[in-house]
Amino acid sequence: MDIESKVWEVLCSEEEIKDRISELAEEISKAYEGKNLLVVSLLKGSFIFTADLVRKMSIPLKVAFMITSSYGHSETSSGSVSVSMDIQDNLEGVDVLVVDDITDSGITMKYVTEHIMKKSPASIKSCVLLDKPDRRQVDLEADYIGFSIEDKFVVGYGLNYGDYYRNIPYVFAVTNEDR
Ligand code: IMP
Ligand code: MG
Repeated sequence: MDIESKVWEVLCSEEEIKDRISELAEEISKAYEGKNLLVVSLLKGSFIFTADLVRKMSIPLKVAFMITSSYGHSETSSGSVSVSMDIQDNLEGVDVLVVDDITDSGITMKYVTEHIMKKSPASIKSCVLLDKPDRRQVDLEADYIGFSIEDKFVVGYGLNYGDYYRNIPYVFAVTNEDR
């Protein structure tokens, strides 16, 4: 896919993302009131979403980062995930919320939640900005979802194409139309 020569279609505007994140932050803040929350952000894709989400949250929380990679084709998950940077936190009595940019096949989030479960946290839930339910290959539904979208390759707001465009402040889909 030669992204530069294609027409981009905005799927989630800056304003829509901002409003939805405020709602999610309020919902999550209520759910974790009085708990011991650790937000685990999956790099690189969720760095912008995580930064915006936690700044709208009204409860005390800690943040940790994990790097996961899925092998194979760059646009899709291949089924095998590896952790190249793990969290170091002791999770005893800790309520973990894993934050990612998108669930596509669901393989990454399923793998990460199972990986963190082995560290015996008090609880584990997941939050994604985007969800592509039509693409699911495993039984996995995030607990908090920003936007459910169609099966399109999306870029921007942390999501990359060839490791570029993460800094675009909205989410766009690349169409088949040439510009
Ligand atoms: P999954 O393991 O198939 O659910 O894929 C999750 C990961 O694949 C995400 O964290 C993204 O890094 C990447 N991904 C999936 N769909 C897209 C997309 O449409 N655009 C950019 N990255 C994507
Ligand atoms: Mg990712």
